Amino acid sequence: MQNAGISSLGLNWRYLAFDVDPDDLKPAIDGAKAMKFIGLNLTVPHKILALEMVDALDESAQTWGAVNTIRFEGLTDHQGWQPIGRLHPDEIIDLRSVGFNTDADAITRSLQEDLSVTLPGATVLLLGAGGAGRTAALKLATEGVSALYLVNRTRAKAEEILAEINQRFPQVQAAIGYPEDGVDLLLNATSLGLKAGDPMPIDDQHFPLGRASAVYDMIYRPAETELLRRAKASGCRTANGLGMLLYQGVKALEIWSGKSAPIGIMRQALTKNIYG
Ligand code: ATR
Repeated sequence: MQNAGISSLGLNWRYLAFDVDPDDLKPAIDGAKAMKFIGLNLTVPHKILALEMVDALDESAQTWGAVNTIRFEGLTDHQGWQPIGRLHPDEIIDLRSVGFNTDADAITRSLQEDLSVTLPGATVLLLGAGGAGRTAALKLATEGVSALYLVNRTRAKAEEILAEINQRFPQVQAAIGYPEDGVDLLLNATSLGLKAGDPMPIDDQHFPLGRASAVYDMIYRPAETELLRRAKASGCRTANGLGMLLYQGVKALEIWSGKSAPIGIMRQALTKNIYG
């Protein structure tokens, strides 16, 4: 999707994948800076490690406590720090790496655009309290959801998130466990459904899926998990996590290029790449 976006913007760049051992992450980032790369994306397990390894953190990375996008910047005599992609190599007198997070915004953007969920005032049942679950919970709270029900296999992890929500967002009604009534959104942030034969991430005896107006599964491969299949059969609106992947990439390309990313072209390339 990035190469499709890059070529549509007419940029003479290439997006490549590098397999980096976590022990080598710091020299890898510094090496990319020394070679005047435009930027980097990082994935698990590098996102948290990189917080300590970049020269500066954008507010997004500070807020969400993880870096998934790095932009390299050059210092010039007259323009201060600028994205490296906009500078001629000869005018650069110093270099720095800046860490961003584009994952959190991608969650809510995909919920709004792919599932037409209106988040302010919404009631949400969130499954999962790992890294993705925590970011989703806090991001939904910043968007002004009215109630958040947290369910996780390991209850203590859901309780940690509950405490954080209660402290930072006291206006959100947060609780552990399934709600008695229906919800506007059921969001799966567990990894259950990735593998064939996985159990459902929800106990539908406790919470029949028809009680959710919309169901979002962060998993995008398979395209339709058992959760989404049953949700659709129960009459729910459904979407998978492809949009999250798309929008974090869209935002990253905008951070590197300073231009609006061609979303349709990137979505098409991503869909082709993942689903064939
Ligand atoms: P991520 O960064 O994708 O959130 P993670 O932090 O490893 O990954 O979190 C995985 C989530 O899936 C957790 O909520 C995890 O539940 P636990 O906190 O109890 O580990 C959930 N999960 C993974 N395997 C599971 C299983 N077999 N049954 C129930 N929940 C599971």
